[in-house]
Amino acid sequence: MTLQLTPLHPLFAAEVSGLDLRQTPGPDLCDAIHRAMDRYAVLVFRGQRLDDDQQMAFGEALGPLEQTRGVVDVHKQRLKHQQMADISNIDLDGKLLGADDRRRMFNLGNQLWHSDSSFKATPAKYSMLHARMVPPEGGETEFADMRAAWDALPAKMQAKIRDMVTEHSLIFSRGQLGFTDYTEQERRDFAPVPQRLVRWHPGSQRHSIYLSSHIGRIVGWPVPEAMALIRQLLEHATQRAFVYAHHWRQWDLVVWDNRSTMHRARPYEDHTYPRDMRRVTLMDVAPTLEQQMAA
Ligand code: OGA
Ligand code: MN
Repeated sequence: MTLQLTPLHPLFAAEVSGLDLRQTPGPDLCDAIHRAMDRYAVLVFRGQRLDDDQQMAFGEALGPLEQTRGVVDVHKQRLKHQQMADISNIDLDGKLLGADDRRRMFNLGNQLWHSDSSFKATPAKYSMLHARMVPPEGGETEFADMRAAWDALPAKMQAKIRDMVTEHSLIFSRGQLGFTDYTEQERRDFAPVPQRLVRWHPGSQRHSIYLSSHIGRIVGWPVPEAMALIRQLLEHATQRAFVYAHHWRQWDLVVWDNRSTMHRARPYEDHTYPRDMRRVTLMDVAPTLEQQMAA
């Protein structure tokens, strides 16, 4: 089976047309989607009027889901499916989250470049974000191709970072915005996890830099030196040539590969407009340190 693909960027990202994902894809279509994901890393499906059950079924067809949402104040969740993350600014009663709501503070962290769930021992494979309600302006999502970023590094830098191990935590990324308010339970849940800094992406047979604002340390390095290097790599990896900016329309479903891309949310007037986005996330196969490093 071949997909109708229209590239959206010179390096990666493509639009898939001619599909209605309310029908759960069968094995042939799933294979075709996986192959296109390997090549493009970000796929855009426009005009998909999915409800929560259909979005869940699409995710489950593609692979095992992450079981936890890993956010603050989980008891205040609006969505019925445990495995569906609420990427919105809307409260249980349908009103916009208050200016100082902890969940709003926490969601602001999505505006930092990151890879989903890199703070979990086994991180995320694909994320599938569906737009139910979008603001009239702002609120784009940007993606950066971490394989292109790796390829463009000087050989000397590649050799320097190839075997580095980083530590990731939500506390590190939120700390960059000055968010330090956690319960003891959250501190335990968000304890740092180790990840490789350079990964091998088997589907495309390419390396990628596994960067994320969740990084707070490089194992064996003094913290300031480590973070200066991470910052330098983040700047390199997010130069405009490597970035696709997605301008959302209602009913877009965007699927991205967290092993080979980073992303960030762009700001919008969240005190004025609702933005209702829902995410289903596939789990990677193992912690990155246990994954194969080359062909
Ligand atoms: C996410 C995320 C960005 C956005 O859903 O993982 O980072 O633009 N979203 O909402
Ligand atoms: Mn994210």
